[in-house]
Amino acid sequence: MKALVYNGPFDVSVNDVADPTIEAPTDAVVRMTTTNICGSDLHMYEGRTNVEVGKVLGHENMGIVEEVGNAVTGVKVGDRVSLPFNIGCGTCTNCEKGLTGFCLQANPGSAGAAYGYASMGPYNGGQAEYLRVPWADFNCLQLPPGTEHELDYTMLSDIFPTGWHGIELAKMQPGETVVIYGAGPVGLMSALSARIQGASQVFVVDQQADRLKLAEKAGATPIDRSTGDVVEQINELTGGGADRGVDAVGYQAHNPDGKEEPEIVLNELVHAVKPTGGIGVVGVYMPQDPGAENELAKEGKLAFDYGTFFFKGQSMGTGQCNTKMYNLRLRNLITEGKADPGFIVSQELPLDEAVQGYDQFDKRVDGWTKVVLHPGQKSS
Ligand SMILES: NC(=O)c1ccc[n+]([C@@H]2O[C@H](COP(=O)([O-])OP(=O)(O)OC[C@H]3O[C@@H](n4cnc5c(N)ncnc54)[C@H](O)[C@@H]3O)[C@@H](O)[C@H]2O)c1
Ligand SMILES: [Zn+2]
Ligand SMILES: [Zn+2]
Repeated sequence: MKALVYNGPFDVSVNDVADPTIEAPTDAVVRMTTTNICGSDLHMYEGRTNVEVGKVLGHENMGIVEEVGNAVTGVKVGDRVSLPFNIGCGTCTNCEKGLTGFCLQANPGSAGAAYGYASMGPYNGGQAEYLRVPWADFNCLQLPPGTEHELDYTMLSDIFPTGWHGIELAKMQPGETVVIYGAGPVGLMSALSARIQGASQVFVVDQQADRLKLAEKAGATPIDRSTGDVVEQINELTGGGADRGVDAVGYQAHNPDGKEEPEIVLNELVHAVKPTGGIGVVGVYMPQDPGAENELAKEGKLAFDYGTFFFKGQSMGTGQCNTKMYNLRLRNLITEGKADPGFIVSQELPLDEAVQGYDQFDKRVDGWTKVVLHPGQKSS
């Protein structure tokens, strides 16, 4: 089959690789109809992870079940399914609690497994024609048959639940105000989630005009950080700080001069969120980052403004999204017309054009907000 393979920094290609097979009786093989490029893929693409050469990338996957192992009872050939980016075993103590982003069995020696991702186990990704899905009964979310809402449902494998998780980690209550850093796909999904969960006001911070426009479309107030001090603006607009804040940027955050400054968003949040407020961090941070700009950050350590954080009595929640905690309910919101996460899709490309998709999305070229790939489609 054809698949998008990592060759090295800024070097991916669509190659012929072996078809995935049923390796355990609990496996399924799914034919990919839609698979997205994620901001998380860019950390690997830019050479800022330890991902191995030859890995098939892609963790935002949906498609049609092609084959199932003997022990699979909950899904059958022909079912249309969404696959959470975290692979969970379903039976370890973390999966038991719904903390499937930290499964203790799927990636032995670590907590948490995913398709096609650095440090997340030996699993290939779904930017390919077919994908092997372990523990298929646990890891497949059933979708209504057909092709309706394809661009909405494709957000269920990662970024819609992740955006929602950011709001949950910040412990937002209906009627509260929230400031979201990053108007990338994850930040935009947080804005949509905050609106659905009843925020009174949502602010989204970035400097990309095209993305800020989408934030406005999601019902948020865009804050262009290139036009002045964000913390001052938020404090003014909310009368002393937002109730809640979300980091949807992560360790590759940039300062206003365009240089990487990994602690900048966390520190701005501490100052833009009011005393006793909550901060949800879904932007990714790494235990090691040899490519970082400063010595501390190379070891995953940040110059975090802990004194002010403590003094203000704030709380913070962090980590990978436990996708399965939310994906069924978010699916129902889409099916019933209450959520339209597909509004962020800017390009739909055949798999053959994935290399161009990575290049343009990585450069954050104007108008490249969210790229989805359709492996079954031929290049025009
Ligand atoms: N926790 C999870 O489970 C999970 C899941 C998916 C993605 N992520 C992570 O979420 C983050 C965002 O993902 P994405 O797909 O939206 O990525 P993206 O790279 O497309 O978007 C990031 C946005 O942040 C903006 N930005 C950079 N520095 C900024 C700053 N100082 N202030 C405000 N905005 C700034 C950029 O202009 C960009 O628009 C990434 O770190 C990704 O790895 C985490
Ligand atoms: Zn993702
Ligand atoms: Zn588990």
